[in-house]
Amino acid sequence: MNAQPQTVTADGRTIGDVVMDMRNITLRFGGVEAIKDISFDIREGEIRAIIGPNGAGKSSMLNVISGFYVPQEGEVWFRGKPRPPMKPYEVAQQGIARTFQNIALFEGMSVLDNVMCGRLGHMKTNMLTQALWWGKAAREEEENREAVERVIDFLEIQAIRKTPVGRLPYGLKKRVELARALAAEPKLLLLDEPMAGMNVEEKEDMSRFILDVNDEFGTTIALIEHDMGVVMDLSDRVVVMDYGKKIGDGTPHEVRNNQAVIDAYLGVAHD
Ligand SMILES: Nc1ncnc2c1ncn2[C@@H]1O[C@H](COP(=O)(O)OP(=O)(O)OP(=O)(O)O)[C@@H](O)[C@H]1O
Ligand SMILES: [Mg+2]
Repeated sequence: MNAQPQTVTADGRTIGDVVMDMRNITLRFGGVEAIKDISFDIREGEIRAIIGPNGAGKSSMLNVISGFYVPQEGEVWFRGKPRPPMKPYEVAQQGIARTFQNIALFEGMSVLDNVMCGRLGHMKTNMLTQALWWGKAAREEEENREAVERVIDFLEIQAIRKTPVGRLPYGLKKRVELARALAAEPKLLLLDEPMAGMNVEEKEDMSRFILDVNDEFGTTIALIEHDMGVVMDLSDRVVVMDYGKKIGDGTPHEVRNNQAVIDAYLGVAHD
């Protein structure tokens, strides 16, 4: 185990041991090297941002963490052990949930049913056991409903619970996607541009929810975000990628003053 001294942040939160340790990760798509020999870690309880210009490899990195892509080189260490290649659902069963850069919800289904999908990994009984052990299945159903209701309250989406997702404005869809991820009660939450395309007010709401999730549930969060103001406000540490390489890693203050980061990213316009 990579035992690290615990750190208490300025706002009193505790950052613990390394939970996710990416070691010398290289990921290729044919001739394209999306990730080039990158190492970085994520510590228990922190909010870890991944930033960088378009095409830098940020989503690819999140997809390696979530098991969606298996890197050609390097190792993913999870909770002190190398993680063998796994299917995304197996990674999810280890307490890792995610949202997508392009919203991936069932547009024709209600908010409630979409959020319920986040509980699929917790549904242990199948149809046969449901028939044989009605009581057990009923208890599980009750637990799932309660977990979903907690999330709906927490993210303040009671008013739209019956609304088909396709009818919602973009900012609320993003919130529903967060709700679905939270319904899985993850220990590590991966957010791919949770605030992209939002107006200032929606961004403020989303920032508050992300901070509250981290604070109230102790959820470790890794997020990709382009808005540097948001990154500075939210994150404990930032890893900076450019053309598949890591060009910076440190506190928001450190990366903001890192010349390589300024040259590649901060000094140039981006969306
Ligand atoms: N499934 C794929 N097949 C082939 N190439 C891919 C695939 N996914 C990503 N790439 C390539 O890998 C590189 C990194 O892409 P990635 O989506 O990880 O970047 P990103 O940092 O998330 O960019 P953005 O800010 O635009 O979302 C790009 O050159 C992209 O074209
Ligand atoms: Mg991306």
